[in-house]
Amino acid sequence: MFTLEEIFPEIFEHEGKIFTKNLVPSVKVYGEKLLKIDNVEYRQWDFFRSKLAAAIKNGLNEMPIKQGSTVLYLGAAEGTTLSHVSDIIGKTGIAFGVDISERVMRKFIGMCEQRKNVMPIIEDARKPWTYKAFLEERKIDLLFQDVSQPDQARIFLKNTEYFLKKGSAGMLVVKAKSISQKSDVGSVFGKELGALTDQFKIKQVVNLKPFEKDHVLALCEKL
Ligand SMILES: C[S@@+](CC[C@H](N)C(=O)[O-])C[C@H]1O[C@@H](n2cnc3c(N)ncnc32)[C@H](O)[C@@H]1O
Repeated sequence: MFTLEEIFPEIFEHEGKIFTKNLVPSVKVYGEKLLKIDNVEYRQWDFFRSKLAAAIKNGLNEMPIKQGSTVLYLGAAEGTTLSHVSDIIGKTGIAFGVDISERVMRKFIGMCEQRKNVMPIIEDARKPWTYKAFLEERKIDLLFQDVSQPDQARIFLKNTEYFLKKGSAGMLVVKAKSISQKSDVGSVFGKELGALTDQFKIKQVVNLKPFEKDHVLALCEKL
């Protein structure tokens, strides 16, 4: 009998692969595999296409996204990861996806027409005041950031200032090569994550190899 184990709320595992329940049955977002068990459809979550999936595979020990969560996601791109976030939070949650590029957002905007719990915002994550009004004073459960920029920690802290309250969760993906091509990768991670420690308790740092080279995902909690 084929069974799925729920490893985090609404995230399921089978033989080393992970899945979320498809909020929009029979519709694929990025060519992922669909699987039907007991009349419930699941979407396979690709470790090579999503840094959050890679972090889960590599031993992330806490998942701040649950049914009903409110998520602010910086670096939405085509919405690959956000599509799974949408499955997890379900109809009672909402995720705001910010990206600076209208071109890469096009596919994501199409997806938002089917997934009403995700909202696209075309803005620069360095300017949180430009999208503050969309969030309407909501309590953000998780600030997630995956932008390939040299000032990743600075952007994360700027958004923290606007949107996070004590106890809220943060997930920062650090891509070392966007910060420095020459410096030692470990010292780039150390410096970037060190910049967070006045504002956050860093609970876990997960290296994303072999799915992403020179990337870590830091799970933290706002102090
Ligand atoms: C690595 S991709 C994100 C992939 C996405 N997180 C996923 O898993 O599907 C980085 C994205 O950050 C966006 N980006 C870069 N600088 C930005 C900025 N200042 N504000 C908002 N988005 C930015 C890029 O346009 C790009 O789509």
